[in-house]
Amino acid sequence: MAMSTYAPFLFEYWPQLLTLTVAYYIVTVILKVKNVNLQKSVVPKKKYISPDIQAEIKDEDDVDDTDFNFKSALPEDLAHVPLSSYKRYSEEVMLERSLEFYQDMNNRRTLRYYSSEPVPREVIENIIRTAGTAPSGAHTEPWTFVVLSDPDLKQRVRELIEEEEEINYTKRMGNQWTKDLQPLKTDWVKEYLTEAPYIILVFKQAYGYNDDGTKKNHYYNELSVAISAGLLMAAIQRAGLVTLTSTPLNCGPGIRTLLNRPNNEKLTLLLPVGYPAKDATVPNLTRKPLKEIMVWL
Ligand SMILES: Cc1cc2nc3c(=O)[nH]c(=O)nc-3n(C[C@H](O)[C@H](O)[C@H](O)COP(=O)(O)O)c2cc1C
Repeated sequence: MAMSTYAPFLFEYWPQLLTLTVAYYIVTVILKVKNVNLQKSVVPKKKYISPDIQAEIKDEDDVDDTDFNFKSALPEDLAHVPLSSYKRYSEEVMLERSLEFYQDMNNRRTLRYYSSEPVPREVIENIIRTAGTAPSGAHTEPWTFVVLSDPDLKQRVRELIEEEEEINYTKRMGNQWTKDLQPLKTDWVKEYLTEAPYIILVFKQAYGYNDDGTKKNHYYNELSVAISAGLLMAAIQRAGLVTLTSTPLNCGPGIRTLLNRPNNEKLTLLLPVGYPAKDATVPNLTRKPLKEIMVWL
């Protein structure tokens, strides 16, 4: 029996039907692919945010660009002079100096127990002078080092920090972070804040001011202050003193108010400085060997 007899419709319209079927499949495939892409763009990838950033309550920098004067912050006719401060050493001396410096830095340890024995003020001034030699974005020197030696002020800073740190440890830091800190035996009690003869507070200036009162950009201020803090710590070590790099979470605004510091300054580090207590102990940590930290290509 001929097809035109038992399926006349199919016989008549098969080219159209075939075109429709193919078109249907093509459209289905396109929609499927599009849907997958759509889903990919709608569901955002979960971004990793480290716990210290998550636990920090934002201390807004309050910068707007309405009152900048758009002039160069440095003199436009700044002179460029010969490099007179550079000193070249022989390879032998270089080797000796680099090794000696490494050994000195390698002996640095974070100290949590201090003697209250006084330290000459001039030593502290030299240490801070050293920190002030750090490079900074566009030479903006975005740092302020506040030194506390007054026992009453140290006590008030301690109270403020201990109160906030108790909340940090019990509520904000979470199980993993507190577990990671357990071997170091740290908690919210900070005796070193009143024991050490000095506390150096490192403030980052989010922006500065020109002589005419307009705002001055502080480029890479976070990084510049971190470099400066590294030099500060190296100078403390070199002077034969000890310190503790502390980052009191969420205490910045309170301490800034207590010490009457302006809004453009944000507390980044707090370092007790002094001699170690007689019976001071440190966690028995090891450092990564060179082959784990250096890639030579
Ligand atoms: C950015 C930073 C923040 C730190 N914060 C704290 C802190 O808040 N409290 C503390 O006891 N130690 C703090 N430390 C010290 C580290 O625990 C210490 O450097 C580490 O355990 C290694 O020990 P070491 O410094 O003796 O080599 C901090 C260190 C760094 C670099």
